[in-house]
Amino acid sequence: MTTIIEKAKAGFFQMIDEFGSDQYNLRSHVPEVEKWAKHMLKKLPDANGEAVLLSVWLHDIGHYPIPTDIDHAVRSEERAKAFLKKEKYPKDKTNKILHCIRAHRCRDILPESVEAKIIACADSASHMTEPTIYLDMAKSDKENNNEFRVYAKMERDYRDLGIFPEIQNELKELYQNWKNLIKSYEKIDLK
Ligand SMILES: [Fe+2]
Ligand SMILES: [Fe+2]
Repeated sequence: MTTIIEKAKAGFFQMIDEFGSDQYNLRSHVPEVEKWAKHMLKKLPDANGEAVLLSVWLHDIGHYPIPTDIDHAVRSEERAKAFLKKEKYPKDKTNKILHCIRAHRCRDILPESVEAKIIACADSASHMTEPTIYLDMAKSDKENNNEFRVYAKMERDYRDLGIFPEIQNELKELYQNWKNLIKSYEKIDLK
């Protein structure tokens, strides 16, 4: 029998397939978020594993199609709500998951539950262990003569890792090395 987590996962890949391209590298990003979420669940046994894993596969389901004026966290929440309703998922559990999705960017809505904190922290941690996300941003800033937005992105990610100081500490060395790498890269002038 297909579990609801597997259905959410299939729906996520379907969103990318229907859009036809994956400029946010979600095919690689979300499985990386899943790894971090599982890593944190081992440390936080009181958290609800099903809510966390469903939120992993649903948190970015509003990204495509682009462009859109709607924040992808808002669109992901709407789509997750429709999906869970269709699956007749219990209302109280649904609300738990919707909060994880809506708060994953730590912007206008901050994560309150332990599950939402895991998702926000795992999302930021995954950026640190993806091989190209910061370099791709730096390259695009360089090519467009933009100020390097990537530093602010790294700062936000590192700040959000602070939700769980143990995880922040685990990634501290990598974060410092990313900053040094990006600084070295910024100095190269190919024009
Ligand atoms: Fe996201
Ligand atoms: Fe994400």
